[in-house]
Amino acid sequence: QKQLIDTAKQTLINNDLGGYTVPTHGLYPFQWNWDSAITALGWMTFDEERAWQEIELLFSGQWDNGMIPHVLFHKESDTYFPGPDVWGSDKKVKSTSISQPPVLASVMNIMFDQCKDRALAAQKMAEFMPKLIAYHLWWYRERDPKNTGLVVSYHPWESGMDNSPAWDEALAAVPPVTWDYQRCDTTHINASERPHKKEYDRFLYLVEFFKNNHFDSDLIYENCPYKVNDIGIVSILHRASKDLLALCDKTNISHPSITELNDAVALTETTINGLWCEQDQYFYNRNVITGELCKVKTSASQLILYAGLANKLQADILNADALAWTQASTFSMSSTHPKSPLYEPQRYWRGPIWLHINWMIAIGFDDYQFTDIAKCMKDDAIALVNQSGYYEYFHADSGAGCGGKEFSWTAAIALYWWL
Ligand code: DGY
Repeated sequence: QKQLIDTAKQTLINNDLGGYTVPTHGLYPFQWNWDSAITALGWMTFDEERAWQEIELLFSGQWDNGMIPHVLFHKESDTYFPGPDVWGSDKKVKSTSISQPPVLASVMNIMFDQCKDRALAAQKMAEFMPKLIAYHLWWYRERDPKNTGLVVSYHPWESGMDNSPAWDEALAAVPPVTWDYQRCDTTHINASERPHKKEYDRFLYLVEFFKNNHFDSDLIYENCPYKVNDIGIVSILHRASKDLLALCDKTNISHPSITELNDAVALTETTINGLWCEQDQYFYNRNVITGELCKVKTSASQLILYAGLANKLQADILNADALAWTQASTFSMSSTHPKSPLYEPQRYWRGPIWLHINWMIAIGFDDYQFTDIAKCMKDDAIALVNQSGYYEYFHADSGAGCGGKEFSWTAAIALYWWL
């Protein structure tokens, strides 16, 4: 145990680039949005000041419209593609032009509740709350301009679940880029564990599309060839907005937009069943361009419990389904259902187990009093790290570590969740 704790702390220390933590050196040499938020939970267990600094640097890249980008290119690196020149944003801190699942407010809520240095926590909250509120308002304003209660996402990289089979159909409608490029990821990691070229061709088309449209929200909303209601983002945003409202209460922060946030939360609660498939008895993502549900079973749908958005009947169904899911591979919870024809147990988001997602899913099952499944996910997470170390993700059958080694959020989740 002591050695596991020391290694986890050392992983964060080794990945610290002076105030922000890279997910892992080489493969991801910058500050990633949701990685950083999760990583702050790990720092919090042994260096609270450093944990707040992680958040501070994340806010340093916030755009004037409130968006917090998915990657901040604080320093140059030639080990990653596509870098700032391809994204083409002209902000003070160079960045990508999309965001990532907004787990930040939920993390800050935990930090505010659990940090021992109360004066420091209060000082940081006073500084960060207006920025955090602006970030949430950005999601609802820019990504749900028609007030549907379900924000849209424009890029699989924004979902954080890059090559999830849930995106296959929607992504197939995006044209490929016609220029040559050199990927870096497959020089660090075995190509069988990374997305295919056909996906990268379309990822890059979208990056260029945003740049060619000068990051204009209205134009992108009207014309983007990829537009999905991502159930992971919808769920994580929903819980985070409720946590943000709780934080406003706890910190006595009043803000003119609190009513707007309350309304947005209430609206999602009335429209979430638009993602429920009565026939399959499951929540799915929706391809907003065709209006069709993306009927692939991924664990992202279980985040609906984390958001508190399932009714009692739906929660019972999800629990029974998840219990069977855990039996279908040696370790649980695989990101794609092992019985799906699209399941690939080693390929990034097409099957492997990701501990930060399972931490959130387990919270959701716990919240609904389904403690067996939550315990099973935690026990398996511990077993995977014991067997393979702090890898980026894990093969759901062999338990082998996949992707990047010495990975920040895996170490952080271990420090925060069970060590
Ligand atoms: C990558 O480069 O693989 C990242 O997941 C993009 O965020």
